[in-house]
Amino acid sequence: MNVGIDLISFQTSQYFLDLATLAQVRGVEAEKYRAGLGQERMAVPPPDEDIVTLAASAAKPIMEKINSNDIELLLFGTESGVDQSKAAALFVHGLLNLSKRCRAVEIKEACYAATAGLQLALAWVQQHPDKKALVLGADIARYDLGSPGEPTQGCGAIALLISANPRLLVLDPETGFHAENVMDFWRPNYRTEALVDGKYSTLVYLSTLVDSWRQYRVATGRKLGDLARSCFHLPFTRLAEKAYVRLCREEKIPEPPPDEIQRKIGPSLLYNRQTGNTYAASLYESVAALLDNDPEDLSGQRISLFSYGSGCMAEFFSGVVQPGYREHLFAERHRRMLAERTELTYRQYEDVFRYHVPADGGDHVFAPYRTGLYRLQGIKQHVRLYAATT
Ligand code: COA
Repeated sequence: MNVGIDLISFQTSQYFLDLATLAQVRGVEAEKYRAGLGQERMAVPPPDEDIVTLAASAAKPIMEKINSNDIELLLFGTESGVDQSKAAALFVHGLLNLSKRCRAVEIKEACYAATAGLQLALAWVQQHPDKKALVLGADIARYDLGSPGEPTQGCGAIALLISANPRLLVLDPETGFHAENVMDFWRPNYRTEALVDGKYSTLVYLSTLVDSWRQYRVATGRKLGDLARSCFHLPFTRLAEKAYVRLCREEKIPEPPPDEIQRKIGPSLLYNRQTGNTYAASLYESVAALLDNDPEDLSGQRISLFSYGSGCMAEFFSGVVQPGYREHLFAERHRRMLAERTELTYRQYEDVFRYHVPADGGDHVFAPYRTGLYRLQGIKQHVRLYAATT
């Protein structure tokens, strides 16, 4: 039976910092961020936005198109959890008014977490083809002010509806995957900013890509040329170029000219360049960008996906784009959301960065900023209070 991604919806913050502004303040050439990292803007969440509001806002357009009682599995991948015990999935379950007959849990493995959710959901839908699973990935990427990782911050959420006979992407069963205990990026419980050995992380990313690809190639007999497009996890979009060239080298193919690399990966980078790293959502944000923006009709074509979570877990897999997929995208909403964001000054960015939700157990009502369809309206005796904005 065919299983895969039936609908895909993306959400990011309504505020951004232009990286040219950050470059100026940090005394760095703007080209380093724009060309060297491949990033233009980073999404900055206001005080009343978190992974729950981002994920619920991503999922809501999907819910408007299906019977919510069909969802019996809700998996939420994140490293930016709002509670050490309660799953963020349950806050979203409540906001979306899902059926009580539903398994709802949170999954953690850095930026790989939503892929773990996706693979579990695919196996579950194989067993329950009349039901659907909702897989969420949402994160707020934070590094220390002034650190090398700072220009790669961002935030966003992805919602994937997983079903039998999906309308967008039938996922192939063969995958290559790799687990290894490494310290390239981590965030101890007592820190709100990640620690990262960025150069080492990039090396591990590329070496686990090669190992996952080799497994995939053996399992499928496919060559790189059999993949019409390639989507990658994107801590910064320049890494996708390096990854694609690394695969070419592995296949002993001469490095393709820039316009060919652009054709293979360019459209998939469009959203991430504007949001920055969205960790668990990042790979699927790039899938959404590809399907929304590729000028060619990809119906019937096979695309590859590479997921990487520091620590580390990596997986290379693929899927076939379904005929008529363009009729089932949220492309207009995605483009409008990115186009209508509010630019922050450097001072505003730093103020928001330094803000932390009160931890004193008192009653706090938060001022309303621009958010998606849901917001964190306050905290009362350590209980987070969410509400719809419309
Ligand atoms: N014009 C164009 N390119 C420029 C430039 C300029 N003026 N100045 C520098 N660059 C290029 C560099 O040559 C380099 O490109 P290369 O990698 O192809 O050589 C790139 O910009 C980055 O410069 P570099 O000096 O290596 O940056 P850095 O030391 O400040 O750190 C990262 C870069 C990626 C290591 C850092 O941003 C980071 O740690 N990011 C987080 C990574 C991450 O999230 N990992 C975990 C998840 S996978």
